[in-house]
Amino acid sequence: MRILWKPLGFSRRLLQVEWCRPSESVSLSAITRTLVPRLRKAPSVFWLGQRQRFSTMPETEASMRDPELFSPPSGVRGMTELDRTAFKKTVSVPVLKVGKEVVNRLMRALKRVALQRPGIKRVVEDPEDEDSRLIMLDPFKMLSVESFEKAELSALEELNVSPQLSEYNLELTYENFKSEEILRAVLPEGQDVTSGFSRVGHIAHLNLRDHQLPFKHLIGQVMIDKNPGLTSAVNKTSNIDNTYRNFQMEVLSGEEKMLTKVRENNYTYEFDFSKVYWNPRLSTEHGRITELLRPGDVLFDVFAGVGPFAIPAARKNCTVFANDLNPESHKWLLHNCKLNKVDQKVKVFNMDGRDFLQGPVREELMRRLGLPTEAKPSVHIVMNLPAKAIEFLGVFRSLLDGQPSSSERLPTVHCYCFSKDANPAQDVCQRAGDVLGVPLEESSSVHLVRNVAPNKEMLCITFQIPAATLYKTQALSVENPEEPSLKRQRTDDSFSEPQITSDS
Ligand SMILES: C[S@@+](CC[C@H](N)C(=O)[O-])C[C@H]1O[C@@H](n2cnc3c(N)ncnc32)[C@H](O)[C@@H]1O
Repeated sequence: MRILWKPLGFSRRLLQVEWCRPSESVSLSAITRTLVPRLRKAPSVFWLGQRQRFSTMPETEASMRDPELFSPPSGVRGMTELDRTAFKKTVSVPVLKVGKEVVNRLMRALKRVALQRPGIKRVVEDPEDEDSRLIMLDPFKMLSVESFEKAELSALEELNVSPQLSEYNLELTYENFKSEEILRAVLPEGQDVTSGFSRVGHIAHLNLRDHQLPFKHLIGQVMIDKNPGLTSAVNKTSNIDNTYRNFQMEVLSGEEKMLTKVRENNYTYEFDFSKVYWNPRLSTEHGRITELLRPGDVLFDVFAGVGPFAIPAARKNCTVFANDLNPESHKWLLHNCKLNKVDQKVKVFNMDGRDFLQGPVREELMRRLGLPTEAKPSVHIVMNLPAKAIEFLGVFRSLLDGQPSSSERLPTVHCYCFSKDANPAQDVCQRAGDVLGVPLEESSSVHLVRNVAPNKEMLCITFQIPAATLYKTQALSVENPEEPSLKRQRTDDSFSEPQITSDS
């Protein structure tokens, strides 16, 4: 950013102007039509306060503020390879000349009207007077001296500062434009620009639309340039439909390295973003489930990814069994357990979810069945594979042998799913109940996690597995409707409602 300050010459010309009076025959608009472009072009400073003698001038000047003042030059339209030098532009902004000793106090009072542009200092040296400073003001808020509010004028008066404004030529460069302004100037007019992306460590993860693809490298570079800490931009090239839920991606700009480090809810995770699943939009959900857990509880994380449920749970002194089918997720899960110093509290598996439930989960539940009642903590089973997790619920049918004692704490399942239904909570309840073979409407809660796409929600259904479903002997009884033990067992009153909660 450079400020062009050339006070000489033009002010003399301006003096001549301020004494002239529009004759009857020359309309005011004709004068301003000739004068204003000249004022604009002049690489100089002029005093708006003095010009008030030419009474309608400030208003005319105001109404002629170019709405595109802070847009990049029109020549950048259609650019596909980023040329930062093409963004240079000179604009005229109002400034206030003040003694350097009052600047700090005045800045507080002038917060509302001070110029706010990326990379632009609001206070600069006065090239004419080393004891003065120039405060740059927002040209859209400061149209004339009258634009100051009463409190601002009082502050000026108190500090003995004249409200007289002068005008500067300020050189804007690529650094001084926001990413959205750049993309709006470059992409075809009237088309959506994107500045939205998910941040995954040093990586900006974009999801560009077709019309943006010709500009993909430029968009990626602008995102890197405008967001400190980002050094790589990638674009999703396919929907997540592969088993491991990772993205097919193309590096648009910056580093090829996809090994990254993120912080979520005060935990650190490292992984290769091109090989595992990670979604920063799930941090609230990870936190919500962690909040439900109590020290000593047991957590089975069936689709654990790189550990965002498992690690916080372990840090909360829960016993954790975490599984993921993706060998890369498994590797990073182990790594992250160490990184967060919970490797002693998490047992990590690399199996299909069904095998995990039928193997280690079943074994642990059976083992706990034999423990004295007072030694039994709550058991939670998290199943975050929204496209498929409901199908896995069938595994719970007759999973355990024997019969629960009346005080048995049945495992609580948190199962994630998508729904495009008009009534997503009801839809999810119905589908989960069908797979389990029991109605869940009366004994589950559904939490709206996030809106994934128009008309597509991600939800979490939470319920305790009914004893009649979980135990073989109970399941046998289901076939005999006369048998009293067949009744679905509910041990936790908190699941008595068909309840819907949401993040927002
Ligand atoms: C949507 S991600 C969730 C990861 C993690 N729980 C989170 O919240 O970020 C689903 C995970 O399930 C894993 N996965 C997919 N199919 C699986 C299966 N049949 N058995 C076990 N894990 C599976 C994927 O590798 C992926 O890491």
